[in-house]
Amino acid sequence: MSKKTLVVLAHPDLSKSKINAAWAKAAGALGDVTVHDLYRAYPDGKIDVAAEQALVRAHDRVIFQFPMFWFSTPALLKQWFDDVLAYGFVYGPGGDALEGKAIGVAVSTGGKADAYRAGAQNAWTIDELLRPIQGIARFVRAEYLPVFTLQGAMWGLSDDQIAASAAAYADWLVGREEALAA
Ligand SMILES: Cc1cc2nc3c(=O)[nH]c(=O)nc-3n(C[C@H](O)[C@H](O)[C@H](O)COP(=O)(O)O)c2cc1C
Repeated sequence: MSKKTLVVLAHPDLSKSKINAAWAKAAGALGDVTVHDLYRAYPDGKIDVAAEQALVRAHDRVIFQFPMFWFSTPALLKQWFDDVLAYGFVYGPGGDALEGKAIGVAVSTGGKADAYRAGAQNAWTIDELLRPIQGIARFVRAEYLPVFTLQGAMWGLSDDQIAASAAAYADWLVGREEALAA
């Protein structure tokens, strides 16, 4: 049986998005992939924890897709972590909902890739900045997938670059690792 993937998408204004909108469209066209748009589901910011936990239970892999905001996630995704990843659900007695599953991140950034390294403007790599999510994966005993990213939005990306990234994202979502090199 093929693996079911949940994309938890957190972009506060998809109508103005280029990257995340293109990624979401590519993901939505795939079988066995559910794209769940958090800001659309919860415009008032009040997360239905039981509904989110049911979604997590129904999938084998959970991908967090978002634009980097202040070296972190948009606020509603942080809220999702705080509310949904509860005691008794992913840790503590019976808390095995993510155990043995896979967690991944697809993140877009305004800054270019070469700004994300020691000695450059943003000092840390994307992998280093995403340690809190890697920490979640480790804590809930899930596999942490290699990060998928497209960087340099602030500097202007061509439609072709974004389309190529969306195609690579679709490959990455269905587990083709070579998509990371694209
Ligand atoms: C509030 C806010 C904070 C941001 N913080 C960062 C940041 O820390 N690093 C960065 O590279 N880009 C940052 N950006 C730029 C976004 O990451 C970028 O616009 C986004 O990834 C583009 O994706 P989209 O086309 O889907 O909107 C920030 C943008 C906003 C609105």
